[in-house]
Amino acid sequence: MHWLEVADSTNTRCKELARTGAPHGTVIIAGQQTGGRGRMGRSFSSPAGGGVYLSALIRPKVKPEELMHLTCAVGVAMCQAVEAAAGLKPNVKWINDLVVRNRKLGGILVEMGFLPDGTVDYAVIGVGINCCQQTTDFPEELQSIATSLALEGADCAREVLAARMVEALAKLDKLLISDKAALMRRYRRLCVTTGNPVQVLCQSASREAYAVAVLDDGSLLVRYPDGQEEAVHSGEVSVRGMYGYI
Ligand code: BTN
Repeated sequence: MHWLEVADSTNTRCKELARTGAPHGTVIIAGQQTGGRGRMGRSFSSPAGGGVYLSALIRPKVKPEELMHLTCAVGVAMCQAVEAAAGLKPNVKWINDLVVRNRKLGGILVEMGFLPDGTVDYAVIGVGINCCQQTTDFPEELQSIATSLALEGADCAREVLAARMVEALAKLDKLLISDKAALMRRYRRLCVTTGNPVQVLCQSASREAYAVAVLDDGSLLVRYPDGQEEAVHSGEVSVRGMYGYI
């Protein structure tokens, strides 16, 4: 386990360690990130003393298609970690956001590397959870959509949250492949996106749709107003609620 006072991005550091042979189970935690990254090239606000910024390296000997559910499975594990640490039950917004009261509590960024034969060399599981931030600690544009455990009245030391996150990931490691169906069932129960109208955002274009279901591979089945259905994948699109962030 590596602890860094400041990192640009724990995912970037963890990928470097992965490429130089670091073992399965390596974890990096930073007290602050200067270049915290989110999905689809977005940034992740990571002020000093605010949240837990953690990346874990796993090296499952599987084909990439067997890890399509990884982000969802980590979402389930992180909801359990937050509940164990702070007594608060978050939900998930497809695919990788932890949410409380319609606000973003944290996010997950999974990045993978592959061997020449196409199998998985490593997966870096990056998780950021807002813990101690007050509203003004967030950049202005996030102040109406972000929250933290402290803002939700669930005070919790970052060390305790970090410990529960690592425990939850260690538990997940044992079940990731064998318990895929159960993990996806739990994810569907936690997901607040399905059953609601959404905007499907693809680069600069946006289309209205209805979120029907999360499929076994973690993709989101949406229905457009003309009745056409499509499974959208997290690498290509993100979704927003029609009337706000959720
Ligand atoms: C998102 O909101 O789209 C995902 C955010 C993931 C943030 C975590 S913080 C630890 C790790 N390092 C990063 O640069 N990103 C992830």
